[in-house]
Amino acid sequence: MATHHYHFDHEITSEVPSRFAELVSAQPPGALVLLSGGHTIVELTGALHRAVADRHLLFGQVDERVVDPSSPDANRTSLVRGLGALDALYILDLLRPDERRTLSSTSEDELLPLATELAHRYDQRLHAHAPIALVHLGLGVDGHTASLFPGSAGLEVHDAWVCANTDPSGHNAHPRVTVTFSAIAASARRIVVATGAAKADVVYRALTGEGLPIHRLPREGTLFLLDQEAAARLS
Ligand code: 6PG
Repeated sequence: MATHHYHFDHEITSEVPSRFAELVSAQPPGALVLLSGGHTIVELTGALHRAVADRHLLFGQVDERVVDPSSPDANRTSLVRGLGALDALYILDLLRPDERRTLSSTSEDELLPLATELAHRYDQRLHAHAPIALVHLGLGVDGHTASLFPGSAGLEVHDAWVCANTDPSGHNAHPRVTVTFSAIAASARRIVVATGAAKADVVYRALTGEGLPIHRLPREGTLFLLDQEAAARLS
């Protein structure tokens, strides 16, 4: 059998949520764990909540869409639903009441200064709770991770842990606040979770190709956690 050398370590399991929960709950009390948004996190929070309920971890966000905090599009919405009362730093909680009021009446182009201000506030918050112990990341079909999209300005931010960003292709909606690759690399560990057949091509490109945003992750301390469908093109 041929031996494949992949860019990143990976693990294939039919139990992604419980394996992810096990890896997170191995962190020591007080550890800061950053969680991504999107759809995949919704599959993970049930098992995660059960596993970490008495672990006294502090959760934070990898990225957020600059929308009203009550919007179903906000990553905060699914995280609050999944994590309940567990300690967490939510990016949209850093909005002042007057900023929140103007949010819904402001066009997306005009939201960038507010995204930049939120990024600055969240950067300070993360540094106040440093170090980052573990970062959970998703993988978009375009090879993005966090809200660091192909060709976007956020890829080139090296002097901050958090920045505002947008997707120049327009495929990923809403201005974003996202951790940078500097913050992701400063974390001791990273777990990229990808599930489902729709991710099979990008998982293969992530592990064998080059030039995608995901390739900017450090190899050391990074694990891809995959189900069989997402790993279908690996042998
Ligand atoms: C976001 C994210 C993003 C996500 C990937 C994968 O706010 O969109 O945090 O990085 O993790 O796009 O998204 P899915 O889990 O929806 O496939």
